[in-house]
Amino acid sequence: MSLLDLGAAERAELATQIRADYEDLKAKGLKLDLTRGKPSKEQLALSEDLLELPGPNNYTDATGADVRNYGNLQGIVDIRQLWGKLLGINPDLLIAGDSSSLNFEFDVISWAYAFGTNDSERPWSQEETIKWICPVPGYDRHHGITQRFGFEMVTVPMLEDGPDVEAIRELVKDPQVKGMWAVPMFSNPSGVTFAEEVVRELASMDTAAPDFRIMWDNAYAVHTLTDEFPEIIDVLGLSREVGNPNRFFVFSSTSKITFAGSGVGFMASSEANLDWFKSIAGKRGIGPNKVNQLAHAEFFGSAEGVRAVMRRHAALLAPKFEAVLRILDERLGKYEVAQWTKPTGGYFVSLDVIDGTATRVWELAKEAGIVLTPAGSSFPLGQDPNDRNIRLAPSMPPLEEVEAAMDGVAVCVLLAALEKLGA
Ligand SMILES: Cc1ncc(COP(=O)(O)O)c(C=O)c1O
Repeated sequence: MSLLDLGAAERAELATQIRADYEDLKAKGLKLDLTRGKPSKEQLALSEDLLELPGPNNYTDATGADVRNYGNLQGIVDIRQLWGKLLGINPDLLIAGDSSSLNFEFDVISWAYAFGTNDSERPWSQEETIKWICPVPGYDRHHGITQRFGFEMVTVPMLEDGPDVEAIRELVKDPQVKGMWAVPMFSNPSGVTFAEEVVRELASMDTAAPDFRIMWDNAYAVHTLTDEFPEIIDVLGLSREVGNPNRFFVFSSTSKITFAGSGVGFMASSEANLDWFKSIAGKRGIGPNKVNQLAHAEFFGSAEGVRAVMRRHAALLAPKFEAVLRILDERLGKYEVAQWTKPTGGYFVSLDVIDGTATRVWELAKEAGIVLTPAGSSFPLGQDPNDRNIRLAPSMPPLEEVEAAMDGVAVCVLLAALEKLGA
């Protein structure tokens, strides 16, 4: 029975009950956190053996170079070959770096801003206005980067098969639109994987800016919650085929595979883009942490070795996601006061509550000791125009805590909805 269909008396009765539930919730004195999508302790323990690697007396890469010394800006071939095989990327077009893909992303934008890209007429800093396409809901740290450089962020809705390409096609007719964020697989936070037609369109569409760039952040390419690994589209090959070879910068990392913060970050692109990147990276440093790269190459052994680790992650994560979905369904389904994604991979469930109540849900949860990601955080400048979206991140807390938190969230969603309806 939808909340909207309840008569006034029934609604008042329900409100009395939910208010009592909320008081009970507060009385529990909970201290729960569903905010950041970090791996749990159990997930980190899956890669414990890394701490012993590289093994004794192993300090050379496949070319015989000593990984302990300076050099090799592109990263060791051992890990580039393995990662290239996993993601379907030519290892020659892949750079293995230090621990963070976000650092690579920041560098690309920062250097385009300071120096211009290889296709730019001038540095982006000299443009009067730079506009940037942000599919929403999206990743808050992406928005944080483009905000820091003062870009005007233009949103497009994320649909079931990827961002709204019709809207994007219109936007890129404006030469001030220089690029776009994209998380193409198990997206943060919607869980959406872009369909091939969408990818093809993004690769082939005409853009007014000759230096238009898509920041293709494939952070969750192998982060399945099931037994299946979706096919990874060769976006660099596709863009080359259609005559836009420099359009994509592809990013990924082992952050949620081995150790978040101590893994290996990767970037791939066209030869021309990589030459541009390396010409600046060579001034920034002498080479990445190759000891850690060798340790990772040894730890995984092969691309299949990465998938084996990911299956173990999925076994730990899937019950938490199932709990979130089950509780949302049991507690909220019948009232039709919310919609949520049912991801088959990635790290998040994206919850849409009744318009104008997301901030209130966040406040109610906080008062009851449940920390949620602030409402609006998946939108540029933290502003959700509908005050509707909440990103749930169940990976880190133990299952019992996920369950307790979600029970509480359901009470808060209902209470906020009833308040909104004046009950
Ligand atoms: C889409 C996306 N990209 C990048 C990152 C961070 O990656 P890294 O640890 O490699 O910097 C995250 C982490 O949450 C993410 O969700």
